[in-house]
Amino acid sequence: MSHPHVIRTPDQRLRIFVSSTLQELAAERRAARTAIERLHLAPVMFELGARPHPPRELYRAYLDQSDVFIGVYWERYGWVAPDEEVSGLEDEYNLCPEGLPRLLYVKSPAENREQRLARLLARIRDDDRAAYKYFESPRELAQLIENDLATLLAERFDQSRALVSAEVASDADRVVEPVRLPVPLTGLVGRDGDIAAVADRLEHGTRLLTLAGPGGIGKSRLAIAAARAAAQTFEDGAVFVDLSAVHDPPRVPNRIAQALGVRDTGDAPILDNLVTALRDRRILLVLDNFEQVLGAAPLLTGLLADAPGLSLLVTSRTLLRVSAEQSHEVGPLAEDSSVSLFVERAHAVKPDFEITPENRDAVARVCTALDGVPLAIELAAARIRVLSPAELLERIDRRLSVLVGGSRDLPERQQTIRRTIEWSTQLLAPEQRRLLTRLGVFEGGFTLEAAEFAGADDGDGDVLSDLAALVDSSLVAQHDTDDRPRFTMQAIVREYAREQLRSEGGLQRARDAHARYFIDLGSRARVPLKGGGQREWMQRLGDERDNLRAAERYLLDARDWDRAAQLAFNLFLYFWVIGLLGEVRTWMDEPLGSGDPLHDRTRAIALYFTRTIRFWKDPDGRVAADLAESADLFRRCADRSGEAMAQISLALALLAGDDPDTARAAEVMQRSIQLFRETGDVWGESMALVLLGRVALLEQRLRRAFERFDESLALTQSGEDAVGGRIAAYHLGWAHLLLGSPEDARKDFALSVTLSTSLGHIEGIAYGLEGMAAVAAVGGDVDRAGRLAGAAHALRERSGTHNGPTFTFHQRYLDRLAATAPSGRLAAAVAEGRELTVEQAVAEALTGTGLPNAGRDVSAPRAGGVPTPP
Ligand SMILES: Nc1ncnc2c1ncn2[C@@H]1O[C@H](COP(=O)(O)OP(=O)(O)OP(=O)(O)O)[C@@H](O)[C@H]1O
Ligand SMILES: [Mg+2]
Repeated sequence: MSHPHVIRTPDQRLRIFVSSTLQELAAERRAARTAIERLHLAPVMFELGARPHPPRELYRAYLDQSDVFIGVYWERYGWVAPDEEVSGLEDEYNLCPEGLPRLLYVKSPAENREQRLARLLARIRDDDRAAYKYFESPRELAQLIENDLATLLAERFDQSRALVSAEVASDADRVVEPVRLPVPLTGLVGRDGDIAAVADRLEHGTRLLTLAGPGGIGKSRLAIAAARAAAQTFEDGAVFVDLSAVHDPPRVPNRIAQALGVRDTGDAPILDNLVTALRDRRILLVLDNFEQVLGAAPLLTGLLADAPGLSLLVTSRTLLRVSAEQSHEVGPLAEDSSVSLFVERAHAVKPDFEITPENRDAVARVCTALDGVPLAIELAAARIRVLSPAELLERIDRRLSVLVGGSRDLPERQQTIRRTIEWSTQLLAPEQRRLLTRLGVFEGGFTLEAAEFAGADDGDGDVLSDLAALVDSSLVAQHDTDDRPRFTMQAIVREYAREQLRSEGGLQRARDAHARYFIDLGSRARVPLKGGGQREWMQRLGDERDNLRAAERYLLDARDWDRAAQLAFNLFLYFWVIGLLGEVRTWMDEPLGSGDPLHDRTRAIALYFTRTIRFWKDPDGRVAADLAESADLFRRCADRSGEAMAQISLALALLAGDDPDTARAAEVMQRSIQLFRETGDVWGESMALVLLGRVALLEQRLRRAFERFDESLALTQSGEDAVGGRIAAYHLGWAHLLLGSPEDARKDFALSVTLSTSLGHIEGIAYGLEGMAAVAAVGGDVDRAGRLAGAAHALRERSGTHNGPTFTFHQRYLDRLAATAPSGRLAAAVAEGRELTVEQAVAEALTGTGLPNAGRDVSAPRAGGVPTPP
């Protein structure tokens, strides 16, 4: 599971498990969460609404996945479940894995401390792996946690560096990439035989294995568990690819790319990038919900042929029917597992629910009536708060025979789940049912705010309490990502909701409201994305990626070109950083190719998006002209910020060719910078300064270039803009190097690596490593230069961000070095560097840079990266 010495890749934040009683320490829990998030770490906390007793396997799974244990204690010992000896609180401490760092805090004074807690604390005091600190207020607790975690991280970071060099020296034990599989919210019941059988086949050479079965039978759960069991066999780990929001087979490669961190920058077909990323990796991909995109099956066969170390575990309601496919039928849960599942779910809504000799039979019969389909059992058990097992049985028997609906031709178990969903929704109040139907419009989950928007357009309904009722009935699941609750629906429930929405004639209206909501979200995101709110909004928008896509698709299909362009343009920075400009380009090709007359601003935006990513690949020389047209159109409609943005791209295009037009680029940038200043856009101004610096570089005016980059960096720092900061620091590095100050250059490149890491921006890391490779080359350090360059190259391949030949500055330094170094030594170092993982490469690059907080930033949040020219 977690390796205490390994620094996580950016999208794998360190998880901090927080154990405490809920109510008495509510304020302290909030304070702990804030402190953890301030360090960009991920808190793991159980606050699942009305669930006082999360099942043991659940917190065990979470503990196993956590990197640090925090315990907060005061007076209460906590609730002891009927068949347990100790409270959940004590159990969490007991289950905390050996070797996990423990930070323990005790609130004082505590005059009414319960006996059992006093005993537990005494035991903790005697435990030589643990010691606790006292605190009085939530504020003090937050301070302690933040300091202790920071110290811990710094220590780990040192260890990690030592370890990296040791491993590198032996070059034997490559650190396995983290397994990226979701951790389900509930414990797994039964399925031992299936897990073993599936894992065994994956370990023994089956490369395309389909888990087939009806909706809600447990395919996804089985796939996750089996992939985890088989993951050791795969040197490069196992990665989960959620296809539930993908409805168009050609988009499957994009989704796989997204899960792997391969970016769609539009430079090359995404499939090529994917093959490059997978070619020499031994990796297991779990493709979940493939039934929606069966047309993409041949594509999987192609991938398997091109990437010999790749294996695929697919879940699907129907078989793929391609030649390489083997299958495993996912059947009903065994009877005893069904009953256990029922009891566990019943406990969650009614903690005192017990299985007794009187009700055992009714429960078993409910499970049988539901054909052992886990989702159906969950929906039924959610009703145990108001219905006894016998009442439940009677109703289920009655309803299931009535509710045949229009689905007679479906296989039996599929009918069972359909009917159970219908049964469950009929127990809802009308406004709750209406809300559920409306929620069918979302893709990939939704926030409370979005649900309120979708649910409340025609009255004063109380969406919050209706939504809570849906969560209580298990039709909607609640997860907390960081501090924001997020809601999802099981694929089959969402399908049901959407069908209802369509058949009631409300789909069109709901989609329009959905699009309006996301357009509004985009306009709220525009400004904070440029500065202080950058990380938070990158993450928020990252959660909404599928909804944003769906909104855009809706607008394009409606030929609502203006709003489609507006949505994309507001989120330009997000799409850029996350590496989705390739996809945005295909959207914006649609209005341009439609033949419809376009409004000036819409055409300006569409030209901008479709040309800007091609500025350095311009065979027919049209790109600069089109970008100039875009800028003109923006000017005509008095959009100064748009005009200034288009001018940046225009200048890049003018500088990119073999014969850069520096004079015109400088002129364009002067106008651009003036516009940014007029509109008070600090982000834009700092970008424009970088461009002006590049003009100066090309004109061999090094001092001037240096000043521009320096000024740009200062602006980004004043605006808390990590995206701009990393670009400015990177350029400043080159200026320093060219000015003969390699030590300063190294610090700048290190800063750009650290900032990129904090954004999860792989391409930025690659740029920084290349700069550092050049610094090492200047110092004659063949091994370091080669290893860093090799690592950067591998990162580019894996993330699909290739560097244009005009921008491979560091190559010149390496070539010069190769000419003097002992033959083959540089090439050998490059080959070694290619084997480094992201975290190893970053740790190696930062060794000796003296950046005090490097360790912290390395484990900072995920958000994607910036496909930026250097
Ligand atoms: N073995 C199990 N133990 C505990 N819960 C389970 C188990 N199998 C399934 N479930 C629960 O039942 C529900 C349906 O399971 P799952 O999502 O795996 O079904 P699925 O076959 O993938 O459905 P779909 O076709 O809709 O994707 C989920 O809430 C899941 O957590
Ligand atoms: Mg599933």
